[in-house]
Amino acid sequence: MAEKIDILQNASKEQVYKHLLPQIESLIKTESDTIANMANISAVLKHAFDFLWAGFYLVKREQLVLGPFQGNVACTRINFGKGVCGTAWKEKKIVCVPNVNFFDGHIACDSSSMSEIVVPVFFRDEVIAVLDIDSQFENHFDETDITYLEKIIKIFEQTLMN
Ligand code: SME
Repeated sequence: MAEKIDILQNASKEQVYKHLLPQIESLIKTESDTIANMANISAVLKHAFDFLWAGFYLVKREQLVLGPFQGNVACTRINFGKGVCGTAWKEKKIVCVPNVNFFDGHIACDSSSMSEIVVPVFFRDEVIAVLDIDSQFENHFDETDITYLEKIIKIFEQTLMN
């Protein structure tokens, strides 16, 4: 059943994330469909923080293929090691880019994007997808985003075990 998500207003970024965590958990924990949960996570993040773009790419054979997202139309396929997404996949770690113009190989799906963070999603130690978030502002993502987006993805990974 769909739920209404309560987004704190006039609160710090950390407070907003903290308030979202249990809500995201209850939204996805009883749903085993990966795509459905990716879609709802994208929607929550886009609406809570008004990001330019928030969504997932799924590993399919040798490429990342566009999955559920919120925002403008985006590139559909990204090769291993390419762009910010392909780098996070290859290096199996979060990649946070303060200014995409200085990231060698950045794939510009939207010229308004200025900064970006990509969080890999693991299943049995393999990257099976990445969460990609774009901002129209330079230097938008910091340690708080890294910490809480990682927590959100950990919650999501739990649903993959079920
Ligand atoms: N900028 C990404 C491509 C995906 S879009 O931002 C939605 C990258 O360099 O991998």
